[in-house]
Amino acid sequence: MARKKIVAGNWKMNKNLFEGKQLVEDILHSGIELRDDVEVVIAPPFISLEMTASLIKDRKGFFLAAQNCHQEKSGAYTGEISAEMLKSVGVDYVILGHSERREYFGETDAVLAKKVDTVLAQEMKVIYCCGEALQIREAGTQNAHIQTQIENGLFHLSEAAFKNIVIAYEPIWAIGTGLTASDEQAQDMHAFIRSLLAQKYGDAVAQSTSILYGGSAKPSNAAGLFAQPDVDGGLIGGASLVAADFAGVIKAR
Ligand code: 13P
Repeated sequence: MARKKIVAGNWKMNKNLFEGKQLVEDILHSGIELRDDVEVVIAPPFISLEMTASLIKDRKGFFLAAQNCHQEKSGAYTGEISAEMLKSVGVDYVILGHSERREYFGETDAVLAKKVDTVLAQEMKVIYCCGEALQIREAGTQNAHIQTQIENGLFHLSEAAFKNIVIAYEPIWAIGTGLTASDEQAQDMHAFIRSLLAQKYGDAVAQSTSILYGGSAKPSNAAGLFAQPDVDGGLIGGASLVAADFAGVIKAR
């Protein structure tokens, strides 16, 4: 089965409501023509979800993502946002396990496995992030590290549930640093992740699951990364905050 190609823009904690509206409008007016197998996903902060949903609703190929959600269904969790709330404003995808959530907010694989279930129960899709720190890459143990993150966060799922899972490989040493994984480093890791899926769930799941690359992806390096057979698209940070750059990455897909 052909895999979906996805370019997702993770705004992180950037853009107020007005700036965000301008950015979405600029992206929509940047003359992007999407092939049928390509999806563009926009992941603004919570306060801009509803605005973004209303701007993209008539644009084929554009989807909405949240950057996080709480693992419990509802209750006394002051300041948190539930999966059901996200669903109610039209969210299609939830990014889970971003390295910034793991590092600054103490999110463990066990909590993430629960968040994955909570999001899937609301019939939204998950973009599950994994990635290794520089010391791990330098020690050469990155594959084992990624394997643990994927097994702990996702491998409790059924084969059927996997149709709603997208994986994003984001080496921490490449996030916001200007250092990108080489095309070959990205391909090697994506192929390894796909082999894990094949061992656990079989070839059909492995071949139909989209695996995105993230970490200083931009118009000048996106085409090389996206040309790799196991790189199905990108999770874009900095370059998703400038409409022309985001459009440039989308055009490379
Ligand atoms: P940058 O593209 O800014 O390196 O961020 C990548 C990222 O973390 C996307 O989630």
